Amino acid sequence: MKKIPRDQRLDQSINVLRQGYRFLPKRFERLHTDIFQTTLLAEKVICVTGEEGARLFYDKEKFQRKGALPKRIEKSLFGENAIQGMDGHPHEHRKLLFMSLMTPDHLERLSNITTAQWRKKAYEWTPDGEIILFEEAKEVLCRAACEWAGIPLEENEVTERAEQLWSMIDAFGAVGPRHWKGRKARAESEKWMKKKILDVREQRLQAPGDSALYQMASHKDIEGNPLDPQIAAVELLNVIRPTVAVATYVAFGALALHDDEEQEGKVREAESPYIEMFTQEIRRLFPFVPFLGARVRRDFIWNGFHFKKGRLVLLDIHGTDHDSRLWEDPHKFKPERFQEWKGGLFDLIPQGGGEHYTGHRCPGEWITIETIKSSMRFLTNDLEYDVPSQDLSYSLTRMPSLPKSGVVLTNVRIKP
Ligand code: HEM
Repeated sequence: MKKIPRDQRLDQSINVLRQGYRFLPKRFERLHTDIFQTTLLAEKVICVTGEEGARLFYDKEKFQRKGALPKRIEKSLFGENAIQGMDGHPHEHRKLLFMSLMTPDHLERLSNITTAQWRKKAYEWTPDGEIILFEEAKEVLCRAACEWAGIPLEENEVTERAEQLWSMIDAFGAVGPRHWKGRKARAESEKWMKKKILDVREQRLQAPGDSALYQMASHKDIEGNPLDPQIAAVELLNVIRPTVAVATYVAFGALALHDDEEQEGKVREAESPYIEMFTQEIRRLFPFVPFLGARVRRDFIWNGFHFKKGRLVLLDIHGTDHDSRLWEDPHKFKPERFQEWKGGLFDLIPQGGGEHYTGHRCPGEWITIETIKSSMRFLTNDLEYDVPSQDLSYSLTRMPSLPKSGVVLTNVRIKP
């Protein structure tokens, strides 16, 4: 049996917060390995990276999600008893509910709604006005997500709801006030969603039969019982919260357009396949999810290393998306790399790897891609703007990351 290389013996939790997206990649590099063992939150943890690491991590015979998520993440980012912590048939059954919302018709509708919401928003901007793109994107995507999901949203609650949805995401890499803000936002958002679920069930609110709201309200679990309204609320938030998270990729997309003037012309040709490659490169290059966790289901040997039942295993998401064995010049923005890409299940993994229906891979990948595309088309086709001098750098230690200024645009005008 081979010995798993070890990181320092001391608990490294504080370094996760200090080093953020670099925490795992730094150690794989230093130890010249794709696997090492460390200690986090007083627990031994095995960390793996790369395509083979991802293939291993998504083997459901070997891993389960039950007991893998820290409570603090459940109480802020995901919610309790949500799909993220489920396994086996109950997980697959719940996953079908999400996947049923991802038909081409539904995605096209969301894309059209997103474009319409951007255009509506743009008419509010004064001609010589200044906007912070990230702030605008949060609101636009909150409106679009709610309209698409059949959730009524009053005009005077948009800013507050958008902020709550974002606060849950912003809490994931934080301790202290940012974490507590996320927990409060979760409590308020769950209350909001639960009311909508009950309103639909008790016929005080009509929602289209194929909308996310109606589907969550009427879903039956694997035993044929309606979902507890609290859980239905958590799952409905699992649709609209991450749609608002795409605002981050919109800000990074604007940064990529600004960094290289050539990109803009290429993206502007609405039908060109380039916009798809541009979008994939945004998801690959820019940081979002640093790593994921699962627990060993039962003892097994992998590449000569022993994995003990119950052990927590982390998959290095950010590192795999920047692995030089998979991506040439991994830190460069090069959409062309996707011309040759074969669409592997375990190489481009910003939203997880493996199969959508049977595994935990993000069901919202198509929403993410379509929303980025609609937003990039809007920026390049509908708008003219200046990008004044500002701090557009982004941190690899703060999680989640974002261009520091939020991307300020001035002289924003709608093209004639
Ligand atoms: C799961 C990332 C957008 C819904 C995940 C996972 C990641 C991820 C890394 C975990 C995969 C795993 O556990 O193996 C992202 C990012 C997004 C995004 C970076 C965009 C910024 C969306 C959208 C939706 C969504 C738009 C809307 C439906 C979900 C759900 C899960 C999930 C429900 C749990 C799936 C399961 O456990 O089976 N996402 N996501 N995400 N995502 Fe996304």
